[in-house]
Amino acid sequence: MANTILIGAQWGDEGKGKIIDFLTETAEIVVRSQGGNNAGHTVIVGGTKYVLHLIPSGILRPGTKCVIGNGVVLDPIAVAGEIDGLTAKGVSVTPENLLISDAAHLVLPYHRHLDEAREIAKGAGKIGTTKRGIGPAYGDKIARVGLRMADLLNPAVFSEKLATRVAENNETLARYGIAPLDFEQTLAQLLAAGKSLAPFVGNTVVFLHKSVREKKHMLFEGAQGTFLDIDHGTYPYVTSSNTTAGGACTGSGVPPHHIDSVLGVMKAYTTRVGEGPFPTEDEGLGDMLHGMGREFGSTTGRARRCGWFDAVAVRYAGMINGIDTLAVTNLDGLDSLASVKICTHYRLNGALLETPPMDYAQLAACEPVYIEMPGWLTPTDQIRDWNLMPERAKDYLLKICDLSGAKLSIASVGPNREQTILL
Ligand code: IMP
Repeated sequence: MANTILIGAQWGDEGKGKIIDFLTETAEIVVRSQGGNNAGHTVIVGGTKYVLHLIPSGILRPGTKCVIGNGVVLDPIAVAGEIDGLTAKGVSVTPENLLISDAAHLVLPYHRHLDEAREIAKGAGKIGTTKRGIGPAYGDKIARVGLRMADLLNPAVFSEKLATRVAENNETLARYGIAPLDFEQTLAQLLAAGKSLAPFVGNTVVFLHKSVREKKHMLFEGAQGTFLDIDHGTYPYVTSSNTTAGGACTGSGVPPHHIDSVLGVMKAYTTRVGEGPFPTEDEGLGDMLHGMGREFGSTTGRARRCGWFDAVAVRYAGMINGIDTLAVTNLDGLDSLASVKICTHYRLNGALLETPPMDYAQLAACEPVYIEMPGWLTPTDQIRDWNLMPERAKDYLLKICDLSGAKLSIASVGPNREQTILL
C-alpha cells in the first residue's frame, strides 16, 4: 500500500472507519489531520464494537502507529477519556502507537458552551452541529487567539493564556445568559488532562518526514465528508475544517508529492446529519433504513437523514479530491428493495446540471433527476467474493462508480472486517 488519503465523498458517515480499519492491515502509519471529536468512526472487530472519535482507527491494529496531526482540534479532556475507554477495553494505547502534534489546537470548555449557545440563538437557522466546540475552536485558531497542545504542556504559559481567554469568553457567555467558567477549576481539569497526554505529544511533522524517508506506508484518514468541507461544502451547513484531500497535507505537514493515491469512501445511498440542503433526501428510504436499526449517528445518536445515491455530488467530490478509486459501503442496506434510484443530474430552473451549485439556496432548489435500476432482492451480507455477488448488485455498484467518475475498488456489505470485498 502506497501513501493514501482516504476521504468521505458525501456528507460524512460514509463508513470510513471500517474501510480504514480494513486498510490498516497494510498501513504502517495512520494519520488524522483535521476535525476533532465531532467525528465518530465505528469499527467492529471480533464482535466488539469500538467507536473512535479522535484517535485514529489504526489503534486497533497492533504495530500500527497513529498520528494526530497539527490540523486537528483536540479536546484534551475528551481525548484523555477516549484513551482510558480504549485501555479499559483491552486496547493498548501508549506513546509507541500514538503520537499527538504539539501544534494541534485545543478545544476548550468555552468553545463547547459557545457552540451550543450559538446554535440555540440561531433557532430554525441552526447548523445542527455536534456541539463539541469545533467551530469556535477553529475560529480561535484562525483569529490567532487559540491555545495549542504545546501551551498545555507548559503550565505557567498555559495558565496565563487561559486566564485571558476565559475572561474574554465569560463576557461572551454572559451575553447568551450562560454562567461564567470558574478559571481555577477549568485550569485544574485541563492541566490534569494535559499531564496524562504529555507522553504522547511531539513534533508529528518531523516524525512523518522520517517515515517518508523510511518509505513507510501511510494512510491519511479523513473525518466528516467532502460536502462538510469549510471551502467546498454546502456552506454554511458545514464543519469548520478542510475535509477534502488537500486538508490531509496542510493538516499533517506531508506535502502533496508524497501522496500516491486518493480513495473516496461513499455509501451505496446518501445520508447526512444536521441541517442543510440534501437534494436526494427520501423519507421513505430513511424510514426503511431506520426500521432496520441503521443510520443513527455514532457521536450524537441522532437519526441520520437518508436519500438515494447522488452521482452529481460524488462527481464533484471526485474533482476536488482527485479520487482515484472508490470504496462503496452499506450495499446490504439496499438488499430488500425491488428497485433503486440513482440521481444522475440536478434540474435547476429548467437547466440540467452535472455538478452542484455552490449557493446553498440554489442547491436547495435543485430537483434530482433519477434513473432507476432493478434491485437484487438477495442478501449480500454473507458474500465475500465479487464473482458471487448478484449480477444486479454488481451492475448497480459499477453504475454508481461510473457516474461518479472513478473505479470501484472495495465493496462493503456489513460492519465487520470480513464483510469486505476487494476488487
Ligand atoms: P460541527 O462539526 O460539530 O461543527 O458540525 C457541523 C456540521 O457537520 C453538522 O451538520 C454536523 O452534523 C456535521 N458533522 C460533523 N462531524 C460529522 C461526522 O463525523 N459525520 C457526519 N456529520 C458530521
